[in-house]
Amino acid sequence: MRLKGKTAIVTGGARGIGAAIAAAYVKEGARVCVADIEYAEAQKTAKAIGGNSFAFNLDVTRHDSIAACVAEVEKAAGGVDILVNNAAIFDMGPLEDIAEKSYDKVFAVNVKGVLFMMQAVAKSMIARGQGGKIINFASQAGRRGEPLVAVYCASKAAVISFTQSAGLALIKHKINVNGIAPGVVDTPMWEHVDALFAKYENRPLGEKKRLVGEGVPYGRMGLPEDHVGCAVFLASNESDYVVAQTFNVDGGQWMS
Ligand SMILES: NC(=O)c1ccc[n+]([C@@H]2O[C@H](COP(=O)([O-])OP(=O)(O)OC[C@H]3O[C@@H](n4cnc5c(N)ncnc54)[C@H](O)[C@@H]3O)[C@@H](O)[C@H]2O)c1
Repeated sequence: MRLKGKTAIVTGGARGIGAAIAAAYVKEGARVCVADIEYAEAQKTAKAIGGNSFAFNLDVTRHDSIAACVAEVEKAAGGVDILVNNAAIFDMGPLEDIAEKSYDKVFAVNVKGVLFMMQAVAKSMIARGQGGKIINFASQAGRRGEPLVAVYCASKAAVISFTQSAGLALIKHKINVNGIAPGVVDTPMWEHVDALFAKYENRPLGEKKRLVGEGVPYGRMGLPEDHVGCAVFLASNESDYVVAQTFNVDGGQWMS
């Protein structure tokens, strides 16, 4: 077991990639807080994972919710060893039609949520003095722009940048901040992405998803479980000398 005795918060842990990571961390011996705005789903996921996992009703866009989550985990487990900043939302549309409301929503979850979760957990880790691991979820979308996906792409570029700055700021406290950039992953998020591409590119439902899967060098779309190996590595002591990096876990989609 590579995470024995450790305690992790996985934001957006109710489903998709977050749920796969939460399950893998429990298997590796960690106690996991499945923290999600979809509380009922988070409770179901925590129950299904079993072991040492529990759900928390978290909204990463709210400071009071973030503070309550960190306080709950400190109370339950004495502190936070690992944070997986995985919660995010997706939206898209033609550049000339981007609404301020869409921009605010995407940046509130994907950018503000990531920063202030990191800040709250880092403060807790620094006060405890035992270091820690923070893993931020970026995307291949953060490596380059896309004509219909300007806001989400920018939000993920911001995650890569925060990972660099926070990685450099926190390593003196033995807190490693690194990131994972998935490519295209078969999760509930991609159902939503596919429906939006169908709308804006005038395609039948399911076509975009099939095409992007065929375009992956590995030969298929990613699965949530494909991200578990990197997420366990970055949470374990094996990655102590890895600082401020974002790893492409994408079947060969992007090289950087
Ligand atoms: N699916 C993909 O193709 C893909 C590709 C690249 C990157 N990613 C990134 O990987 C991560 C996981 O993606 P996924 O596909 O599993 O997504 P998903 O939509 O399946 O799951 C995201 C989870 O985040 C939760 N969430 C949303 N807003 C929240 C908030 N304000 N507070 C707390 N929780 C909130 C949702 O309830 C959900 O459970 C995200 O950061 C995403 O941007 C996904």
